[in-house]
Amino acid sequence: MNFDDVTQVELSPTDSETEVQTTSSPQKIEVRAGNFHLIFQVDEDKRLSQLHFGAGESELQPIGTNQAFLPFGEPVFDNADSDGNATLEPALQVLHADGNTSTRLEFVGHSSQKLDENVTQTRIELRDPNYPLQVALLFKAYAREDVIEQWAEISHSENGPVVLQKFASAAPVFGPQDTFLTYYRGNWADEMNREEEKLGYGVKTIASRMGSRAHLGFNPSFLLSIGAPAQENEGEIFGGTLAYGGNFEFQFEIAPDHRLRAICGLNPQASQFRLKPNQTFALPAMIWSYSRAGRGELARRFARWGRSYGMREGHKTRDILLNNWEATYFDFDENKLVSLFQGAKDLGMEMFLLDDGWFGNKYPRDSDKQGLGDWQTMQKKLPNGLSFLADEAQKRGLRFGIWLEPEMVNPKSDLFEAHPDWAIQQPGRALHTERNQLTLDLSNPAVRDWMFDTVDGILGENPGISYVKWDCNRTIGQPGSTYLGADEQSHLYIEYYRSYYDVMARLAQKHPNVEIMNCSGGGGRVDYGSLRFAHEFWPSDNTDPLRRVRMQWEYQQFFPNNAIAAHVTDMKKRPLKFAFDVAMSARMGMDMDTSKLSVEEKEFARNAIAQYKTIREVVQLGDIFRLESPYESVRAAQISVASDQNRAVAFAWQLETSKTAPARLVLRGLDAQKRYLVREINLKAGQNAQVGENGQVLSGAVLMQNGVSISLAEQFDSAVLEFSAQD
Ligand code: DGJ
Repeated sequence: MNFDDVTQVELSPTDSETEVQTTSSPQKIEVRAGNFHLIFQVDEDKRLSQLHFGAGESELQPIGTNQAFLPFGEPVFDNADSDGNATLEPALQVLHADGNTSTRLEFVGHSSQKLDENVTQTRIELRDPNYPLQVALLFKAYAREDVIEQWAEISHSENGPVVLQKFASAAPVFGPQDTFLTYYRGNWADEMNREEEKLGYGVKTIASRMGSRAHLGFNPSFLLSIGAPAQENEGEIFGGTLAYGGNFEFQFEIAPDHRLRAICGLNPQASQFRLKPNQTFALPAMIWSYSRAGRGELARRFARWGRSYGMREGHKTRDILLNNWEATYFDFDENKLVSLFQGAKDLGMEMFLLDDGWFGNKYPRDSDKQGLGDWQTMQKKLPNGLSFLADEAQKRGLRFGIWLEPEMVNPKSDLFEAHPDWAIQQPGRALHTERNQLTLDLSNPAVRDWMFDTVDGILGENPGISYVKWDCNRTIGQPGSTYLGADEQSHLYIEYYRSYYDVMARLAQKHPNVEIMNCSGGGGRVDYGSLRFAHEFWPSDNTDPLRRVRMQWEYQQFFPNNAIAAHVTDMKKRPLKFAFDVAMSARMGMDMDTSKLSVEEKEFARNAIAQYKTIREVVQLGDIFRLESPYESVRAAQISVASDQNRAVAFAWQLETSKTAPARLVLRGLDAQKRYLVREINLKAGQNAQVGENGQVLSGAVLMQNGVSISLAEQFDSAVLEFSAQD
C-alpha cells in the first residue's frame, strides 16, 4: 500500500493516473474480476446502462432493449431521465452554478489499465452535455479474489461552486428476482447483530449519521441474497462493504417493475458539498464480491482481498497481547503495570497494551471525566514515563503499546482551556458532551496538524512503543466548526474524515513499525477505509465469549481473522477454557489481571497460549469454513484451513445445554485425498478427549462426509481440533 497515494485522492483508494481515451461508440464496457463481472453498455443516445452484475458472461440473459436492466430507463448514475425527471432515488444530485437542479450524464470515453497481474483499473468518463461537469466511474477488478472496488470522482469548471447534494460511490442494479437483504445492527457492547429481510417495494435505508463513531448503529456492510434467504454454502449472493469510517448511506430501492437498485456511498444528510471549479471530489470505495456458493465463499473472498489489499500487513500473524483495561480500568500505577508485565511474560504473551488513564497532570486522567487531550505522561502514576515502561516490558521479552484517543477532548483539560474553539460546536448552543467529552474539529488544519504532531511526538520520544490502540468514544453532535465558513458548515463530516485519513496515512508512513488497532468504544469504526491504516480492530467492549461467538462470526463475513481482536477476560465469569477456545478462533489476547488466576488456571492459560502459537498461522491467515451456525443450533463450529490444506483447526462451542445426543461434527475445506491426523488440543489438565477420533488418521473425504464424534453437551463445553496432513 502506498500511503502517498491515499492522501492525494482524499477519501478514495489508491489509483494511478490513467490516460482517458475517447472511444467512438463501444457497445460494452467490461469490468472482470475472475468470475465476477460488471458490464455496462453505451446506448445510442450516449447514456450508460448497466447490462450485467454477477457471474460469467455465458450467464447473461438476453437483452431486449438497451436499458432492459434499468427500471424506467434510469441511467446508471445521474438524476434525470430524458424529461429531466428523477423518478427513482438518484445516485448523484447536483445544483449547478446557475441553479439548474438536473444532471444528465453522457458517455465520453473509457480506459482500462492493468496495474499488475491481478488488478485491472477501469475508468469511465461521463459528462453533462450542457455543463462542464464530469463524473468518472472508477473500478479496480481483483481477478484472484473475485472482488470489484468501485468509486466515483466528480469535477467541474462551471462559473462558481456546484453544490453536491447527493453523491453515491456505486449504484448497481439487481434482480428481478426476490432479494433478501442482510445488514448489521449494533450498539455499545452489542455490535454486529445480523438481520435479514426480504426487500419490498420502495426504499429501505441503512445509514449512519453518527459522524466520528459512525458504525455504532450499523456497520457499513451488507449482503444481498438472490431468490432466497442467504445460506452458508449455497445460493447466489452479493456482498458490499463501504471503505469509509464516517457517515454512510445504503438505499435499496425496488421500483414497481421489481428491479432493485442499491445506492451506496457517503451519507449526504447535512453534508451538502460546495465543490469549487477545477477541484475533484473523490468518493470512498464500495468493495463488492459475489458468490454462487453462499455467504461462506463470499466471506473467504472478502478475507483474501482484505489481507492483500484492505489492511496493513495482512499476511502477517499478530502477537498475543495483554491489555490492562478490564484488569485495572483507571486504577493502576507503575508497580501495578510492571507486575502485569511479569504475569504476561509468565504465561508466554508477547506484548503489553497500556490502556486509558496514563496521561494528564493538571487534570489527571483518573476517570473519563477529565484529562482527555493532555497527552503528557501522568507523573503521579508513572513517574518514570513511558520509555521506562517500554524498557521494563522489553526486559521481559514483551513489546509495548499504548492507548490513545487523539480526536477527542474533555472540557476539563489543558487542551480545551487553551483552545475551546477546537471542539466541534454550533453558535449559541450549549456544549453537549458524550462520555464527558467533545470531538475535536479536524476540519481545522491547525487541529489536524496538532493531532499528527502529538502522536508523532509520543512515538518519536518513545521508540519502544510499537503498538497503538486508537480509540474514538463519541459520535459527532452539534456538527459545526469555528474554522469552516458559513457556507461550508455542511462540509464538516466529510472534512473530518479527510483529515483523519490524512493523519493516519502520515503516521503510517513515518512510523511503519507501529501497529494500529482501530477501536471506537468497540466496533464503532470497523470498515476498510479505516483499516487501510491499521492492522486490526477491537470488535466490542462485550468480551463475554458467549456473545463473541456470533459477533466474531459476523465480522468474519467481511474482514480477515487476523484483524479481529478477541481477548480472554473474566466477563460473565465463563469457564476459562470456553473463553480461551472462543478467543483462540481469531486474533487472541488477554485482558485480565493474571495474578488473580488460580495455579491450575495459570497452568491452563500458559498451555493454551503455547498451543495458540502453534496454530495461529492457520487460524489467523487460513480460509474459514463455518460449519454449524450459532443461529441454527445449540452448538456452533468453524474450521480454519491453511491455503495448502495441510493443516486445519476446528472450534466447536456448546452455546446451550443440549437435550439430545450430540451430532457428529462434519468438516469442510479439507483436501479429500489427503490423510489427516486428528488431535484434540487445549484440553484441561486430566480432561479426556471429547472427540472420539482423537489420535486417528482419517482421509479428508471421510472427515468431510462422516465427520467426527464430539461429546459436547453442557453449555460452555468446547473443543479445539487440529488436523495435520500426513506425508
Ligand atoms: C473504549 C474501548 O472500547 C475500551 O476497550 C477501552 O479502551 C476504553 N474505551 C478506555 O476508555
